[in-house]
Amino acid sequence: MRKKIVAGNWKMNNGLSETIELINDLKQNLSDSDVKVMIAPSYPFLKTAVDQVGDGSIEVISQNINDNKSGAYTGEVSIDMLNSIGVNTTLIGHSERRAYYNEDDALLLKKINLALESNMDIIFCFGEELKDRKSNSYFDIVKAQLENTVMKLEPNSWKNIVLAYEPVWAIGTGETASAEQAQEIHKFVRNCISEHFSSEIADNVPILYGGSVKPSNAVEIFNKKDVDGGLIGGAALNAHDFVEIIKANN
Ligand code: 13P
Repeated sequence: MRKKIVAGNWKMNNGLSETIELINDLKQNLSDSDVKVMIAPSYPFLKTAVDQVGDGSIEVISQNINDNKSGAYTGEVSIDMLNSIGVNTTLIGHSERRAYYNEDDALLLKKINLALESNMDIIFCFGEELKDRKSNSYFDIVKAQLENTVMKLEPNSWKNIVLAYEPVWAIGTGETASAEQAQEIHKFVRNCISEHFSSEIADNVPILYGGSVKPSNAVEIFNKKDVDGGLIGGAALNAHDFVEIIKANN
């Protein structure tokens, strides 16, 4: 059985007091469940967040990593630094990093390889833009994004990888992919992995959906066979909404 995961990507939101408050609210309202809950606050608050979640069920993860181990890279944060404060999972390939910081497939592959070598698990994000959806080329785009990156890994690496399908046109727009649209891509991705590696790897990798997930649409999306939870942006900033979305997995 694949693990159900709900991860909150806080992006560049929340200062110190909001970080502490939101984590406390989450801890008070999360009931026991089989869903793995993750949150990705900003770098300056990661250590506080790790301390604040304590031994509970929430994992604190990073929104990004640098593609070098250490050295003269002013303003950057390394995997070893994150590991040293108890952060052992990171997002890689978020569409905002691709769009605003020119992160291409070659750089993302470098980050993936370095993360895996350094005992850092990965949530790898991919997804097509609106123009790709409109021109019906979204299967090709998604396939290429995966072939240039995670499909180049050793089969053994897949135990440390979660995928997140985030169609760019659905991120922060209020326009969600329908449950059928999400399922269609998730199944397609699983088939690609099965052809490339094995049905066992394809069956075991969790694939999350991200893009305007809200309490009102989460149940329908999460009920789909190949959707194993969500990567949540805006709604993860509100404890009530985030908890409702987590419960939608039950
Ligand atoms: P929204 O939920 O705000 O659309 O953001 C999704 C996302 O980008 C999560 O990484």
